Amino acid sequence: MTTVLVTGGAGFIGSHTVDLLLARGYRVRILDALLPPVHRGGQPPDYLPADAELLVGDVRDRAALRRALEGVELVVHLAAYQDYLTDFSRFFDVNATGTALLYELIVNERLPVRKVVVASSQAVYGEGKYRCPRDGVQYPPLRPESQLRAGQWEVRCPACGRPMQLCPTDEAVVNPHNQYAMSKHAQEMIALNLGQRYGIPTVALRYSITQGPRQSFRNAYSGICRIFVTRLLAGRAPVAYEDGRQLRDYVSVEDVARANLLALEDPRADYQAFNVGGGQAVSVLEYAALAAEVLGVDIPVQVPGEYRFGDTRHIVSDIGKLQALGWQPQTSLRQIIADYAEWASRQPDLQDYSERAEQVMKAVGAVRRAAVLPAPAGSRLC
Ligand SMILES: NC(=O)c1ccc[n+]([C@@H]2O[C@H](COP(=O)([O-])OP(=O)(O)OC[C@H]3O[C@@H](n4cnc5c(N)ncnc54)[C@H](O)[C@@H]3O)[C@@H](O)[C@H]2O)c1
Repeated sequence: MTTVLVTGGAGFIGSHTVDLLLARGYRVRILDALLPPVHRGGQPPDYLPADAELLVGDVRDRAALRRALEGVELVVHLAAYQDYLTDFSRFFDVNATGTALLYELIVNERLPVRKVVVASSQAVYGEGKYRCPRDGVQYPPLRPESQLRAGQWEVRCPACGRPMQLCPTDEAVVNPHNQYAMSKHAQEMIALNLGQRYGIPTVALRYSITQGPRQSFRNAYSGICRIFVTRLLAGRAPVAYEDGRQLRDYVSVEDVARANLLALEDPRADYQAFNVGGGQAVSVLEYAALAAEVLGVDIPVQVPGEYRFGDTRHIVSDIGKLQALGWQPQTSLRQIIADYAEWASRQPDLQDYSERAEQVMKAVGAVRRAAVLPAPAGSRLC
């Protein structure tokens, strides 16, 4: 029986991947540090299946990672540090150095690992891909603070300053704008480079915003589904940043788990990066309206004109490359929200943590307020 190591396997995407691996007949070992705030009190979550072996340890701990790799043929590397806070070095320590250590052990100890799948992120694209009517395809930089302070939300052409049309972003060009995104891109480069150099088939998957049951509501710094649903369940209005017209694509955790399995099993994926997204552009306002409809409440979204400096205006992944290997997102956004709400409302310690997270983000300067609020102007895909 083939043994698969899933790092971060006690987490949200990890646990769904573990379930699917077990269902497909793999033997599964998990290496997870069971970190708060995702894991309360450092305890293993009750959804972890008994037939997966759990090793509690950190991917940066050489001895723990070596133990976890014993007898392993396949690795799904999901453990990562992800947040909005200012401990910048930790992103690289966990996400980049941890990945380099994985390959270091495989290479130096000649371990018989046949394949590694690493979790990357849509965040590596920053503001993504646009088309300027005059200057053609553009990959714009971060919007300047002065623009956001003035409430001018849309991205403009870096060459001529004109409005541009958003394009679905394919895998060709990355343009990371924050420490998390840079660390995920570094992780990808380390994995694909070392994989190629030492003949260890490696695949990097750039997930879009992933949603579904088991996404911890204690870590409320990101994740529109958990934030909007927990607020609506508590009878409070969801709050949209900027003007709420930001476009995103959302993918279900089950669809991401299937993508992980495909990447693990299909040699056509080797040594490449793929987007894993929902295939549909949805604005934050549309999301809020859909969430309220699914939950059967009449609570309109609030748009107070706040923004997070460093946020992407719009980002929608082009998923054609992975679709060409036979993968399709199968779960609608309506179903994702319903599944999450059903799971969240069954949790005994369900609380609206968003207020506290907002306060922390404001204290560290991540959330700011625009001085001027202009009339909204939307953007659609090219
Ligand atoms: N959830 C998303 O929307 C999303 C989007 C893009 C990419 N990703 C990537 O997918 C992967 C999984 O994310 P998730 O949403 O399941 O997160 P999660 O926080 O639910 O799970 C991550 C797991 O990794 C563990 N972990 C963290 N640091 C560790 C360390 N140093 N050593 C060992 N274990 C550690 C945590 O305890 C947790 O169980 C991450 O690499 C993340 O960057 C997630």
